[in-house]
Amino acid sequence: MIESTPILMAVDLQKSFRVSSTLHSNRLLRAVDGVSLQLMTGETLGIAGESGCGKSTLAKIAAGIMTPDSGELFYKGELLSKLGKSEWKNFRVNTQMIFQDPFSSLNPRMKIGDSISEPLKIAGASLTQQQIELRRIMDAVGLSANTADRFPDEFSGGQRQRIVIARALIASPEIVIADEPVSSLDISIQAQIINLLMQMKKDFALSMIFISHNLMVLRHICDRIIIMYLGAIVEVGRAEDILNSCKHPYTEALIAAIPGLQTNNLNSNKQLKGDLPTTNSVTSGCRFHPRCPYTMDKCRNEIPLLTESKTGHAVACHLSCI
Ligand SMILES: Nc1ncnc2c1ncn2[C@@H]1O[C@H](COP(=O)(O)OP(=O)(O)OP(=O)(O)O)[C@@H](O)[C@H]1O
Ligand SMILES: [Mg+2]
Repeated sequence: MIESTPILMAVDLQKSFRVSSTLHSNRLLRAVDGVSLQLMTGETLGIAGESGCGKSTLAKIAAGIMTPDSGELFYKGELLSKLGKSEWKNFRVNTQMIFQDPFSSLNPRMKIGDSISEPLKIAGASLTQQQIELRRIMDAVGLSANTADRFPDEFSGGQRQRIVIARALIASPEIVIADEPVSSLDISIQAQIINLLMQMKKDFALSMIFISHNLMVLRHICDRIIIMYLGAIVEVGRAEDILNSCKHPYTEALIAAIPGLQTNNLNSNKQLKGDLPTTNSVTSGCRFHPRCPYTMDKCRNEIPLLTESKTGHAVACHLSCI
């Protein structure tokens, strides 16, 4: 059940990376540029957007494994940067991440049973408790407990992602942040793993952030969807509103690009043109204006603010204010 209190809240997060380029040595790339969001208790919040728009950077900041340059994160209303040592450990145990690639997420020299139990060990559980929980979680994700002594290379990609999911869930976290958890898997396995994650979400009453390029997957599993473009949120709303009545031209273009999706008001003119620029190259106005089919003068000069309607659907676009 979704409650109306945010379990996790981000306010105006900023994160830049120093990158070398041929033209300017050490230029700053704004990977996350003023992102605020709320993850409600029990909610599945989707994040979509093109490669490089800052989804993984945002996910790592939200999970507490990357520090933002500025902005604040609140866990159950408490400022993360002010948590004491034991409260911080509690947050880290309660917030787990699942990464895209199950091959690099597992230590190849560690037995999978030891990998899965690691978070419990960190949380200070006894050996007996670790063994009981290991059996329980391996069973829950569809892995035989007899395989706990094997090494990752004895498993397929889909099975490895089950191992990663078991590790993320063994310490009964409250929040799971899944960063493209199926995109490295065979299409035939993807639905199985998504269904497993959704079952786990229900059984463990998780609050979840789910990152994916695939808007159709997000529509299926998310309560709300955030659309990111060049480090910022351009639209956020209930999943059905994003898919059926989106308001931002960028979201419109993402939906128009979904193969086989026929809708009345979308056509090929709305598909994205041009390459994704960098945040640094759009120096004024709306960051989407160089690629937008509806650009007006105002869009070149004024940054549109993310403005929320009464239904909670928010969009950063001058067009929707006309
Ligand atoms: N450690 C880093 N050092 C330098 N640049 C980085 C670093 N991590 C990310 N970036 C850059 O920051 C931007 C955002 O990257 P990020 O990985 O968050 O994007 P993404 O939306 O997750 O992309 P993808 O869909 O490909 O996973 C990109 O331009 C990326 O190259
Ligand atoms: Mg990423």
